[in-house]
Amino acid sequence: MIKIPLKSAADLEAMRTSCRMTAEVLSQVAAAVQPGVTTGELDALTRRLIGGMKAKPSFLGYRGYPGAICISVNDEVIHGIPGRRVVLPGDVVSLDVGVYYNGFHGDSATTVMVSVTDPDVIRLVETTKRALEAALAAAKPGGRLSDVSHAVEGIAKASGCSVVREFVGHGVGRHLHEDPQVPNYGAPGRGPVLKPGMTLAIEPMVNLGSPDVVVLDDKWTVVTRDGKPSAHFEHTVAVLEEGVEVLTLA
Ligand code: MF3
Ligand code: CO
Ligand code: CO
Repeated sequence: MIKIPLKSAADLEAMRTSCRMTAEVLSQVAAAVQPGVTTGELDALTRRLIGGMKAKPSFLGYRGYPGAICISVNDEVIHGIPGRRVVLPGDVVSLDVGVYYNGFHGDSATTVMVSVTDPDVIRLVETTKRALEAALAAAKPGGRLSDVSHAVEGIAKASGCSVVREFVGHGVGRHLHEDPQVPNYGAPGRGPVLKPGMTLAIEPMVNLGSPDVVVLDDKWTVVTRDGKPSAHFEHTVAVLEEGVEVLTLA
């Protein structure tokens, strides 16, 4: 039996705050992604921004994760550890950050193209972004969770891209990862009914080539098996009576 926590009005107000902070941090770090910057410098910026808000990075120390942000470049799908790597022209850089404030987490990701000219990479990133938008549009109170999953898969496949199956979206709130899991594939009309008070992190991870992924020896970095690029976008949303509110809009 999965247990999906329903948030009270006060909880939702607190989620709005942590998610607004998350969006602010993500947009400032995204603006700092340019040729020559190291991923470690972007991590330091993330720590400064979150510290300045009197908040905590959700990921730092989570199951031993060593960074405040996940930075995944090119064939890295998710959970890239910031360090000495230098961002170069042509890179596709996914940023995923969480902010913990007043008892609640926000979780959001975006993918930045650094002077990318390869049309396949542009197609990948635009498709992944559209997949998230389609998922948000498919999330409706009274609807079913897998309607969201199905929407992501439909957009990815229609553009000749593939969806990562080993990692999924999730409930988010007092804990970074809560029930239910939110896969990015599957038939519609299945899974739990979406109810007001649910808060979800919806996060398509889309590959240009095959869907297969491998975890590196660092035990964190997830890369594509075929070495082709991958993209990731994520928003935290709240299901309300009147529809879905995207909490991590910049
Ligand atoms: N941000 C990931 C997610 O969207 C979780 C990262 S956990 C970490 O669910 F430990 F790698 F940071
Ligand atoms: Co995330
Ligand atoms: Co997430």
